[in-house]
Amino acid sequence: METLRISDRGVPDPWALPLAEIDPSQAEIFLNNAQGEYFRRLRREDPVHYCADSAFGPYWSITRFDDIVEIETNTKVFSSEPVIVIGDVPAEYLMPMFIAKDPPVHDVQRKAAAPAVGAPRLAELEDLIRRRAGAILDGLPVGPTFNWVERVSKELTAQMLATLFDIPFEDRHLLPYWSDVSTNSEACGVQTDMTARQKILMECLAYFTRLWHQRAAAPPSLDFISLLAHNPETRNLVQDPNALMGNVMLLIVGGNDTTRNSISGGVVFLNQNPQEYDKLRADPALITNMVSEIIRYQTPLSHMRRTVTEDFTFKGKRMRKGDKVVLWYCSGNRDDGVIENPEEFRVDRTRARHHIAFGFGIHRCMGNRMAEMQLRVLWEEIMKRFSRIELVAPPRRVLSNFVNGYEEVQVRLHPLD
Ligand code: HEM
Repeated sequence: METLRISDRGVPDPWALPLAEIDPSQAEIFLNNAQGEYFRRLRREDPVHYCADSAFGPYWSITRFDDIVEIETNTKVFSSEPVIVIGDVPAEYLMPMFIAKDPPVHDVQRKAAAPAVGAPRLAELEDLIRRRAGAILDGLPVGPTFNWVERVSKELTAQMLATLFDIPFEDRHLLPYWSDVSTNSEACGVQTDMTARQKILMECLAYFTRLWHQRAAAPPSLDFISLLAHNPETRNLVQDPNALMGNVMLLIVGGNDTTRNSISGGVVFLNQNPQEYDKLRADPALITNMVSEIIRYQTPLSHMRRTVTEDFTFKGKRMRKGDKVVLWYCSGNRDDGVIENPEEFRVDRTRARHHIAFGFGIHRCMGNRMAEMQLRVLWEEIMKRFSRIELVAPPRRVLSNFVNGYEEVQVRLHPLD
């Protein structure tokens, strides 16, 4: 029997489908924010689920927290190569990057780039981020409605990334632009003109190749490109345009949609849970805890994918060499076997950092402390200025099975009394 796709019939009720037909890879499910019940059923009835027919071919879905951790720990059987999204990428568009590499290449490249977001660098950057967040907030209209995504989430994230790359402030908008072009791909369930996309990515490559040569000729510093250009293990990356592009894209995308959508998500969740907003107003010291809760609740990257390197039995299911295994972080973060009342957004949740939105193991998000710091500083500055950020319309979500986020979050600001 031919499996119907969502576009043919709207988002179906997952509880009414035969289990074998459940296919959470369809981007429309996420667009409609309907993924919760799909994953609830899979966690309960078939936590290691095989979908034989999807737009991305057959794949396994891993939906429980502990199973995701177990697979991420076994990098020998569950490889990050050649790509970490569900969709395969044609060889001519494949960009090698360390998130999609196994040891030893992964370890060497990650180690080279990591000081850009290490603790000493973050301590140096906190003041700058605070000033920039303050300036963005002070420039917002109080009273009229506006799109929080454009004015705050995208803007602050672009400024932060421009700092991590140390590129001119006026070029900052290129980064979210390139990030969007890169993630809007068929591999994430979005129809795209791949030729046009490729042309734009070539402009990005030219920009970063120029920057690389400038940095290589200058004394070393703690920005991403300088770190890679001066490290003996990575300084030849520039001779492999695909690998240069891949790693640059990783650093741009890694820090972009993720932080941006957590910034927007916080506004959405506080509006959906006014009692939590009251708690925060009563005790702004909850901000650090709330930031982790926002990241868990949003889970800005819905999944990462692994590829099986040898026939292997996992939880009684026989996986074959070459099978795709999708780790649904958005589901692991709603697993009530590990997280108490996971459907609730609680700013004062105990053990709020115990979530899987940053992944686990050797690929665990390199920028996690940077993201948390940026969100904390932003909320500290928000609470000094506004009594309420009011959501005035339902948020418009992104069409993707990979990036879980918002196109539009219309708000109105209320000043402190
Ligand atoms: C990896 C999420 C912010 C850079 C990852 C992974 C996830 C993730 C799920 C893959 C983990 C795995 O496979 O186990 C997030 C979230 C963020 C965020 C939710 C914000 C809330 C950032 C920022 C940066 C960054 C700000 C840098 C500027 C990276 C890099 C990797 C990575 C370079 C690859 C690490 C590796 O393969 O070793 N992130 N990320 N991320 N992230 Fe983030």
